[in-house]
Amino acid sequence: MSTTRTRVAIVGGGPAGLMLSHLLHLSGIESVVLDHREVAEIETTHRAGILERDAVRLLVDSGASERVLTEGDRHGGIHLRFGGVNHHVDFERHVGASVWLYPQTEVFVDLHRTRTRDGGDLRYGISGTQVHDVTGSPRVTYVDAEGVTHEVRAEIVVGADGSRSICRALVDPRKQYFREYPFAWFGFLCEAPKSADELVYTRSERGFALISQRTEDVQRMYFQCDAGEDPTAWSEDRIWSEMHARTAGHDDFVLRTGPVIEKSVLPFRSFVQTPMRHGNLVLAGDAAHTVPPTGAKGLNLALADVRVLAEVLERALVKDDAAALDGYTERALSRVWKAQHFSYWMTTMLHRTAEGSDFDELRQLGELSWLVGSEAGSAYLAEGYTGWPSR
Ligand code: PHB
Repeated sequence: MSTTRTRVAIVGGGPAGLMLSHLLHLSGIESVVLDHREVAEIETTHRAGILERDAVRLLVDSGASERVLTEGDRHGGIHLRFGGVNHHVDFERHVGASVWLYPQTEVFVDLHRTRTRDGGDLRYGISGTQVHDVTGSPRVTYVDAEGVTHEVRAEIVVGADGSRSICRALVDPRKQYFREYPFAWFGFLCEAPKSADELVYTRSERGFALISQRTEDVQRMYFQCDAGEDPTAWSEDRIWSEMHARTAGHDDFVLRTGPVIEKSVLPFRSFVQTPMRHGNLVLAGDAAHTVPPTGAKGLNLALADVRVLAEVLERALVKDDAAALDGYTERALSRVWKAQHFSYWMTTMLHRTAEGSDFDELRQLGELSWLVGSEAGSAYLAEGYTGWPSR
């Protein structure tokens, strides 16, 4: 068995784990990043595509991505489509902020390149990862592709290992909060031109639909479906006729269609685990919290966590401030609960309820027309969507 000593062992080499490793490197703190997936698998797993203003700043200011500015698209608002008409909510006008369309897969590519360029110790494609002794001298053990067992000894272990986290269960005692929804999202990629300049969030009698984007010729779209939906039961014709039915209306909006090149059903739930720190173990991102995708908050929250975490770890490991980690859970969760509320709120405003009651339908339309017709309503959406400024 080989042993490596490092200061921080990061379980999970997605955007959160890599961004943390990058920020620690800038502070002179070495880390090892471990992930059971292969790099190619992460690069090709489609996730959300919207970055808040502060997430873009973090990528640019830390030197992790120039491409977000050159290849990403700045969006100054969104369209809310209901009653068969598009209503534009202008974020710039209401809160002076924008978001960027830049897929999570590209964020991963940039961070992976940056860490590789800077000589980061990144270990992908491993198996059997186990975390030991998190209240004493933590160790992570795993088996490499050749079947050799390795051990990484660290002062701190970070669980940035996503919604199927193995680290989460090591926090003891812990409290978990859940909200399940009686529906899911059907997501697909298609070869088609853009249907609009910005994203179109649609509420219809048949349920929610979202028209997002990827490039000039490839688009990403979603529609509300049943929780146990089987993607193979959806032919291309069926997908487009559902999208047409949900986006039909009386304005000049035209849904642009084309070959569907990928489809899947996305999990849909709200989840928070607290505390996010136990002894020398800390959690970041989806390992500690999951939001439904409606507000596109998942990656943004994970990046906000690691920004706070990098700062407290620097105080703990460079400035010998042993109490630095104590405030991490509270600081991270104050943003997480705002995002939980925002994602839940957007979800309930735009999705068809299980019963599809008349009361709920008219109530949703009342809320939406208030929202687009009022400065305060539009500013409420704009502030949550672009992200709350960090302290
Ligand atoms: C996406 O582009 O994948 C996307 C955008 C906005 C959302 C969710 C997903 O709210």
